Amino acid sequence: MTFDLVIKNADIQTASDRFTADIGVTGGIISEIGQTLDAKGAKVLDATGLRVVPGGIDVHTHLDMPFMGAVTADDFKTGTEGAAAGGTTCLVDFAIQAPGEALQTGVDNWHKKADGKAVIDYGFHLIITDLPESRVPEMDAIVEQGIPSFKLFMAYKGALMSEDDAIFRAMRRTTHNGGMVSLHCENGHTVELMVKEALADGNTTPEWHALTRPLACEAEATNRGIALAEMSKAPLYVVHLTAAEALEAVRRGKRAGLPILAETCPQYLYLSHEDYRRPGFEGAKFVMSPPLRPKGNEKALWKGLNDGTLSTVATDHCSFCYELRPGTKMGKVLGKDDFSKIPNGAPGIENRMQLMWDAVAKGLISAEKFVEVTAANPAKIFGLYGKKGTIAVGFDADITMIDPNKPYTISAKTHHMNVDYNPYEGRTVAGTIKEVLLRGQPLVENGTLSSSLPKGQFIKRAKYGETLWGQTPVKSSALSFTGV
Ligand code: URP
Ligand code: ZN
Ligand code: ZN
Repeated sequence: MTFDLVIKNADIQTASDRFTADIGVTGGIISEIGQTLDAKGAKVLDATGLRVVPGGIDVHTHLDMPFMGAVTADDFKTGTEGAAAGGTTCLVDFAIQAPGEALQTGVDNWHKKADGKAVIDYGFHLIITDLPESRVPEMDAIVEQGIPSFKLFMAYKGALMSEDDAIFRAMRRTTHNGGMVSLHCENGHTVELMVKEALADGNTTPEWHALTRPLACEAEATNRGIALAEMSKAPLYVVHLTAAEALEAVRRGKRAGLPILAETCPQYLYLSHEDYRRPGFEGAKFVMSPPLRPKGNEKALWKGLNDGTLSTVATDHCSFCYELRPGTKMGKVLGKDDFSKIPNGAPGIENRMQLMWDAVAKGLISAEKFVEVTAANPAKIFGLYGKKGTIAVGFDADITMIDPNKPYTISAKTHHMNVDYNPYEGRTVAGTIKEVLLRGQPLVENGTLSSSLPKGQFIKRAKYGETLWGQTPVKSSALSFTGV
């Protein structure tokens, strides 16, 4: 066997095993894993002292997205460069169908945004905002294009929100076309009411964003979403779950044998409601939906990750600058006098792997769990497995190498994302992302973003319950929802 690249002395960590070996890469694919591979004629990367893990897969990002009168600060160039610097080699971004528009138009628009800009591989989910009965069949063609997941919102009334009948329609269709619905679970009706009342009482500060979206608002919607999934006999993926009570609903659903999956995000594990009380208007940096929760709630989330109730950790990367961008009307300061006008969302695409590896160092999760929730499960759930999500022969050589003995301090001064603050500013994490490869090509070299970055490819994903073994979709009996 001849190789283009051999990674020598790799301390390989997957979701199930840890072992030391050499990794041979041919044509961007892992072609052999062995004890002493012959590297003659190949480029050699010595991984001595580094932990070698599958490239991260972030299945919840919003790049170049118009939202709340602004557009997210990161596009597919800066967003994927940030992702790469942080050890993420594949993402699944949310395309949007605007109200009144064909579903296909949303997908076409997103291809235009990403093509030629992304430096890591990517797929799309499709956000559905308008689904009369007549549009339901359009979902099938989207699934066939390798976009087998849809997101509907139970929040953002008057903007992205769908009513239960539309959600139910979408779910029922996925039972026929191999797709899966994911839900943003917050009760948009109660939010609207509580926001109006808060503002009428003169409560305008960022903390009121959280006070008008209490834990029960998320728990109610999560329970309702699970009931809709049960009625339609469809799988459901709950995005950015935060509340302990919502987690309990997912746990109950799983115990009842329903195909319910759930994701959380680093911000809900590491930040808290107290961040809304930072001086001045600084709390706006943390305005996202669902909001950060009171200290203590995160304990339930760590437990949910460890007992498998939560399957993935994604970022919900949705970056808006804090200050107004010169020449534009975009920035968190749009809501200086009214918290409901602060664009919802926060950056995180660059820091997810660092923060979750820090959790390994702190003993909050095992190294196997780290790989499971940052790469293996995202790949299995979203039809990328067989190609991405582990280090094995036949998989893409998407590989991240962490120096576990070199702490790293997160800062907006050094991050690559196109946003003027970092929610984790000044936090020191246990490891440094040292080398990152996308299909064997360098994204990060010796801790620095490569000067010649590869071109990211659109990945046609397999349908729910299928994998991409040998790049061909196959039904996977291993991929039962209880397995992830
Ligand atoms: O605040 C958030 N999460 N913004 C992004 C849109 C969403 O709800 O995912
Ligand atoms: Zn959401
Ligand atoms: Zn989101």
